[in-house]
Amino acid sequence: MTSSLEPERYWAELLATRRLPAVAQDDPLARAYLDFAAPERVVLGHLGQSLDGRIATVSGHSAGVTGPANIAHLHRLRALADAVLVGAGTVHHDDPLLTTRLVEGPSPVRVVIDSERRLEARFGLFQEGPPTLVLCAEAAFDQPLLGRAEVVPVAADADGCRPEAVLDALRARGLKRIFIEGGGRTVSRFLYAGALDILEICVSPVIIGAGRPAISGPEIASMDQALRLDGPTIPMGGDILFHFHLETLGRRRPTLTCRGA
Ligand SMILES: NC(=O)c1ccc[n+]([C@@H]2O[C@H](COP(=O)([O-])OP(=O)(O)OC[C@H]3O[C@@H](n4cnc5c(N)ncnc54)[C@H](OP(=O)(O)O)[C@@H]3O)[C@@H](O)[C@H]2O)c1
Repeated sequence: MTSSLEPERYWAELLATRRLPAVAQDDPLARAYLDFAAPERVVLGHLGQSLDGRIATVSGHSAGVTGPANIAHLHRLRALADAVLVGAGTVHHDDPLLTTRLVEGPSPVRVVIDSERRLEARFGLFQEGPPTLVLCAEAAFDQPLLGRAEVVPVAADADGCRPEAVLDALRARGLKRIFIEGGGRTVSRFLYAGALDILEICVSPVIIGAGRPAISGPEIASMDQALRLDGPTIPMGGDILFHFHLETLGRRRPTLTCRGA
């Protein structure tokens, strides 16, 4: 399937109606947006990675892994979401604002998983912009505010905040359409906890050679234990977006544990 339409041709209508505009009936990217836009309760994880499966250099530099079309796509996913969520490592390295400044649409609530409550208040999203929540392990909770952000304790295990506890805390606040924007550890933890409905991987024709991994999970002994996914591949500028509806995994939906946020 190829994506032939510029998203600008249908974006405003899709955002407003959460239905597929007539002009975009056959467009795979518009259909991918609808998978996230239509359900009231849905969790989507996205990573932009190199051909060799890295999302950043070893030092944590990730700007430019994927191209401008994918960056605009991230902003559209934010606009569709009630909440955009990242791990503490992403805030530490990128100091992101997580707003929708490149596209039409509202900015969601911003959520940071900082299980051990190590981030400092100096980061931009704790100082300015839309409301922000910081989720930490109950044992690490000390102050109710980090800058202007509200700190929320949730149940944790040895790998940090438990994905289901994170989602419960967000849903209790009315945040039901959740976009997990990275980094690799955070998306991996939600994937292997069986907490993602949709996984998107945007692959860029670049080789980084060494760096921070995209998806990491437990070791498997043979390829029949691998998570083999099925979904449309969508051209996105010079990159390719893979869009996977994980419901299709059925009983094979992953439930193994891995090192996470
Ligand atoms: N290409 C993309 O799609 C994309 C998207 C988002 C981010 N990124 C890049 O991915 C990298 C971050 O991903 P990630 O998988 O390493 O982490 P992450 O998923 O963003 O965050 C989870 C990890 O952050 C670590 N962490 C917690 N507090 C921290 C602190 N105060 N300072 C530093 N690290 C802390 C924790 O590890 P420990 O408890 O073990 O220290 C935790 O496992 C960054 O380089 C970012 O630029 C790329």
